[in-house]
Formats: sequence, C-alpha cells, structure tokens
Amino acid sequence: MTSSRKVLVTGGAGYVGSHVVSALLDAGYAVLVLDNLQLGHRAAVPPEAAFVQADLADAALLQKLFAEHEFHAVLHFAAHSLVGVSMREPFRYLADNIGNGLNLIRAACEAGVKRFVLSSTANLFGVPERVPIDETARIDPGSPYGESKFVTERILHWAEQIHGLRYACLRYFNAAGAHPNGRLGEDHRPETHLIPIVLDTALGRHPHVQVFGEDYPTPDGTCIRDYVHVCDLADAHVRVLDRLGQRSCIYNLGCGEGHSVRQVIETARRITGAAIPTVMGPRRPGDPARLVAASERIKAELGWLPKLSDLETIIATAWAWRRQHPEGYPD
Ligand code: UFG
Repeated sequence: MTSSRKVLVTGGAGYVGSHVVSALLDAGYAVLVLDNLQLGHRAAVPPEAAFVQADLADAALLQKLFAEHEFHAVLHFAAHSLVGVSMREPFRYLADNIGNGLNLIRAACEAGVKRFVLSSTANLFGVPERVPIDETARIDPGSPYGESKFVTERILHWAEQIHGLRYACLRYFNAAGAHPNGRLGEDHRPETHLIPIVLDTALGRHPHVQVFGEDYPTPDGTCIRDYVHVCDLADAHVRVLDRLGQRSCIYNLGCGEGHSVRQVIETARRITGAAIPTVMGPRRPGDPARLVAASERIKAELGWLPKLSDLETIIATAWAWRRQHPEGYPD
C-alpha cells in the first residue's frame, strides 16, 4: 500500500508533470507539487495534491522543504524545454536547467532521499546514427536543452555513486495528447508544438499551419516523430518508482511508430472535420528528419505498454481538451 508515501513533484503544474501527478494520486501516493508557475498553471494541479509556489534556484527553501517532509521519492520536471529557444538562449537554458537540477539533487541527497526520477529527452541523441533509437545509442545532444538534460543525468550518476541515490532517466520522444478525463491538457504559452498548433488552426485561432520543410529524406518529405500519449508516459513514471526499490534505470519512451507532419495534419483533419490549411515553410534549424524510439527495455523490464499512443487517440484526446478549453487553463 502506497498511501503513506509522499513524493515531491517539481514542475507538477506543467504539461507532463500534471499528468504524472494525476497518475501518482491514482496510485495512492501523497503528492507535493513545487512549481514557480512561470510556465505551469495552478489550475493544472489536481486539488488532492499539496502545492508550494517556489523556485528551485532557492537552495535555502529546498533545504527547509526537505527538512519538513520525508519524501519517498522526487520526480523532477521543472525545466525550460524548448529545443529552438535553447539554440537562441543557450546560457539561460544551461545555467537554469543544470543549476536548478543540481540544487534539487543536492538537497535530496543531503536529506537522505533514496529515489529520483528525471524527465529527460530524446534530444540527447541529436541526429541519430540509427533509428529506432534504443538506450545504447550514441549520446550527442542536439541542442543546449538536450545538453542540460544530459548533464543532469550525469549529476545523478555521481549522486548514486557517492550518496546511493537510485535514479531513473526517462527520455521522452514527443509527448502529446490530453487526459481522457478532460481535466488536464497541453497549454504552453507561447505554443510551439505541432499537435496543439494544428488543433488551434482547426479552431480558427490560426489561419494556417506552417510545415517546417518538405524536402527531408522521408516518404512525404516532412519530418517523422514518435508521438507518445502523455498518460502512457505518466504510467511509466509510476512503474519506475517501484523499480527504484531495486536499482537505477534509463529508458527511452516512445510508442515505436513514426508519423510525419503531413500524417499528423491529415489525421487531425479527419478527427476535427476542419480544413486545417497549411503553408510550406523552411526547415526549422536543429530538426532531425526522423526520431523513433525503441522502448523494448521498459516493456521487458516493467511490462510498460502504451495504451493510448495511437495517433487517433492522441489527437482525439488533445482535441477534446482544446475544444473545452480554447483559452487553455484559467490563470
Ligand atoms: N512542426 C511544423 N510546424 C509547426 C510546429 C512543428 O512543421 O508549427 C514540425 C517540426 O518541424 C517537427 C515536428 O513538427 O518536425 C514536431 O515538432 P514539435 O515542435 O511538436 O516537437 P519537437 O520534435 O521539435 O520536440 C519535442 C519536444 C522536445 C523533445 C523532442 C524529442 O518539444 O522537448 O520532442 O523528440 F526533445
């Protein structure tokens, strides 16, 4: 029974974080969310979770928090997460993501916490040598964002060596979709991700979707990505927490199937019944042609199986949430 187990979730008011909080509550954990609300939304935190508005740069506050609570585990989502922005503002991404991660990991170790889960990324693999990408693929981050996550993974490596902190690094491919209960969804401001932009175009909030490049070496010329439902990602976090009772682990998380930008738009047209006009644009710097995960390791070791990650379900759940919340969360 896990009901007495309290976990700290940083960035729990963000997109992936809030869905994980919901899954943790469903699994019987007591959850404390820490978020500075710069990017997250208070309304995305389920009422059953406790909430502290704070910044991870505040080391004294972290020390106090860990002194006041005994955490079974820490799950760390709070970070800047846009590949493109990190190419323009590398030092902010590196300083904040690495510095805040270090503060948190240090405070956790000093307080004797034994389990830590890091929200990591497929951007660690840059332009991969081979696809699908498994956990043994060469690491060569594609951006300062990816680099910041890799350095945080390495900090965890040393935290384990020296302090015995067991950790999990979960390298997400393209998180997408919304909770089928209709209460949680994707609300980035500004929004840069393909599926929410496509759905906002269906709602008439944008005149068209700009397709970033149609001259890639893929069947229809547009980039291929592995879209994985955010609730399937959340389920992986709950499973991993149990695993950390035995040992540290690293998993690539995707559904193992790639969809092109055109296929995403076509599927969204079918589901929404809207025309969704497109215009062709230039390639976006740093976009690899094809990113698809090999997630056999977590399937074999933890019995994880994506249940909602077919493209139709991803887009249908995202569409249901966006239609109900065209302005996103109330702030
Ligand atoms: N795209 C467009 N038009 C748009 C937006 C996106 O054509 O208006 C294209 C992109 O060029 C890309 C695909 O749609 O080919 C998906 O783009 P997203 O911005 O939705 O997602 P990314 O693949 O760039 O990045 C996401 C996360 C990263 C993570 C990465 C790992 O945002 O944090 O997946 O695969 F590192």
